[in-house]
Amino acid sequence: MNNVIDFINTNRDRYVDELKDYLAIPSISALPEHAPDVRRCAEWTVDALRRVGMENVRLIETPGHPVVYADWLGAEGAPTILFYGHYDVQPVDPLDLWESPPFEATIRDGEIYARGAVDDKGQVFMHFKAIEAHLKQNGRLPVNIRIILEGEEEVGSRNLDDFIKANQAQLAADVVVISDSPMFDRGVPSICYGLRGLAYFQIDVRGTKSDLHSGSFGGAVVNPNMALAQILAQMKDRGGRIKIPGFYDDVRELSAEERDQWKRLPFNERRYAKELGAPKLFGETGYSTLERVWARPTFDINGMLGGFTGEGAKTVIPAVAMAKVSMRLVPNQDPDRIAQQFEDYVRKIAPKSVEVKVTRMHGGKPWMTEFDNPFVQAAGRAIEKGFGKAPVFNREGGSIPVVATFQEILGLPSVLFGVGLPDENAHAPNEKLDLGNFHGGIIASAFLYDEVSRIPVARP
Ligand code: BES
Ligand code: ZN
Repeated sequence: MNNVIDFINTNRDRYVDELKDYLAIPSISALPEHAPDVRRCAEWTVDALRRVGMENVRLIETPGHPVVYADWLGAEGAPTILFYGHYDVQPVDPLDLWESPPFEATIRDGEIYARGAVDDKGQVFMHFKAIEAHLKQNGRLPVNIRIILEGEEEVGSRNLDDFIKANQAQLAADVVVISDSPMFDRGVPSICYGLRGLAYFQIDVRGTKSDLHSGSFGGAVVNPNMALAQILAQMKDRGGRIKIPGFYDDVRELSAEERDQWKRLPFNERRYAKELGAPKLFGETGYSTLERVWARPTFDINGMLGGFTGEGAKTVIPAVAMAKVSMRLVPNQDPDRIAQQFEDYVRKIAPKSVEVKVTRMHGGKPWMTEFDNPFVQAAGRAIEKGFGKAPVFNREGGSIPVVATFQEILGLPSVLFGVGLPDENAHAPNEKLDLGNFHGGIIASAFLYDEVSRIPVARP
């Protein structure tokens, strides 16, 4: 391994230059006008994988943005890693809050700033460079690797389940590796063993066929903004508990052991609140902040639209109001069951004087694994070698819906090998990646392949 690590240390600056080129492509999957950029990014990814020495590299069409596939299967008898990541990024608005342009990667104080730096191009690129170091120095990898990268993660992976179902033989592996999550804190590397799921909806409320003069008609009809506010206000009680009937039926309670372990993590609620700029934290009564974020479900209003919000005053009863809402789910909640419960509840509480329509957007199942799994332990050792510190084991509040699909369709465990930081502004202005962690992540990935190669796997 020494020659591999030497190579990585020698090439440190080149990696950053190459990453800048990757980050320059505005592969925003949510915006149709960026579809050609998403494709160009897939093509860039294909070239990058060919250059590092991967084989069978190709761009595979889907009904949406393409999937990139590559493999290297020359390590006979050794385990096979299925590496998953995404090359698409979130939109950049509000643009005026960026301190440097989102697609001109800029380095300040040891961090590289650009959309996609941490979520997820930087973390994907780390693995490309670890593979390159092995192949350039030894002509081989210690493990077999298949790679799939999608261009629709940020819009709910809508074509990936079908792709996985249709290509099961091509994706045969022993373990999935994903680097698309943060570590616990700066200087506290971690292995993540649980993610929340998601159920996302749009609610449309219509009161009348057109906007109305609030003097002539105010008092005669229900105001859709008010009706929507009343519906939304009935989603949670004052203690932060969600009021949808049956919502908590399948929630797996935290074990005493897990609660105990989390209490010992280096987490300071006051510092956390200060960093967020929150006057006071708020969440479900009876749970700590980490418990609320990692192991309890939530209900959130992502956005609301309705009526007059321009400058000055306008006396109007709007015809329509709209909200986008989502719930983060925890094991063993099922997004479809939750969707049904939510729709039933909205129907029940909606005032009869308006028309209410609920549209299901996307969803994903929550996920959790045992951390005594040998692959998770191997990942722990690799992190320790890359970062000089043993990792803590944590759960995360975000969602990567495909992780549950890998488990259900391919029967594969996943290792979440993320090296982002919680304050790296994923989905927000000034997204960034710590270059020390980028470099440590390349070394840790190189060690990961080595560690995984020692795990015995049964072959039919
Ligand atoms: N990298 C995140 C997932 C993530 C975030 C994991 C925080 C752990 C902690 C990923 O790119 C993402 O944003 N996922 C979406 C999924 C959704 C669109 C279905 C999310 O969590 O909102
Ligand atoms: Zn994301």
